[in-house]
Amino acid sequence: MSINILAPSIIAADLAHIADEVAAIESAGADWIHVDVMDGHFVPTITVGPLFVESLKGMSKLPLDVHLMILEPEKHIEAFAKAGASNLTVHVETCPDLPHVIKKIKSLGCTAGVTLNPATPASSIDSALPLVDLVLVMSVVPGFSGQKLMPETISKVEEIRAKLNALRSNAHLEVDGGINADTLPLMKKAGANVFVAGNAVFKHPKGSGAGVNALKEIAIG
Ligand code: DX5
Ligand code: ZN
Repeated sequence: MSINILAPSIIAADLAHIADEVAAIESAGADWIHVDVMDGHFVPTITVGPLFVESLKGMSKLPLDVHLMILEPEKHIEAFAKAGASNLTVHVETCPDLPHVIKKIKSLGCTAGVTLNPATPASSIDSALPLVDLVLVMSVVPGFSGQKLMPETISKVEEIRAKLNALRSNAHLEVDGGINADTLPLMKKAGANVFVAGNAVFKHPKGSGAGVNALKEIAIG
């Protein structure tokens, strides 16, 4: 049985006080730091790149779970690996030869993840399932933090959990988008074990540490 992991999405944090935010989530028990990399082409927003990952690496010992919402990710995975990424997740929509990219990520010493948008069928990642260390199911259309979870993605988590179990895979099953105290239990029941949370952690009324505590209780409980 996989352990349950909370991965706060740092893009929702107060970047002007990033060191304090990282310290707060780390001391509250966050397991990973989820880094949403967006290029303004695959998704409308532009966020951060390898330099930001490198600075995070210097601030925290938590694994950096890098989510590449970018076109032609193969051109950039080496820079992110060198910057200190622990995991690199690519979108199936951006990789014509997905197994090749997954193998390249692993050759760089990172764990490899694949992710898919809500409108992309689960069957699209079948070729990568035997190879990956992680599958990320987007529960919102990527590009913005603070959106509502799309309920139709819950059955996709169930479908991919069943596929991973059939393969006897130990891959993590991660969900990203609109995860909060209400939706986390639904995704956990559906078979997810890694939970990305941006607003639910960093916009928590009692601060980021309280946000982590609230979700960790549910994820681990
Ligand atoms: C979407 C981003 C967001 C972010 C989480 O492109 O990937 O899902 O990580 O943001 P919240 O938890 O606020 O939806
Ligand atoms: Zn993400």
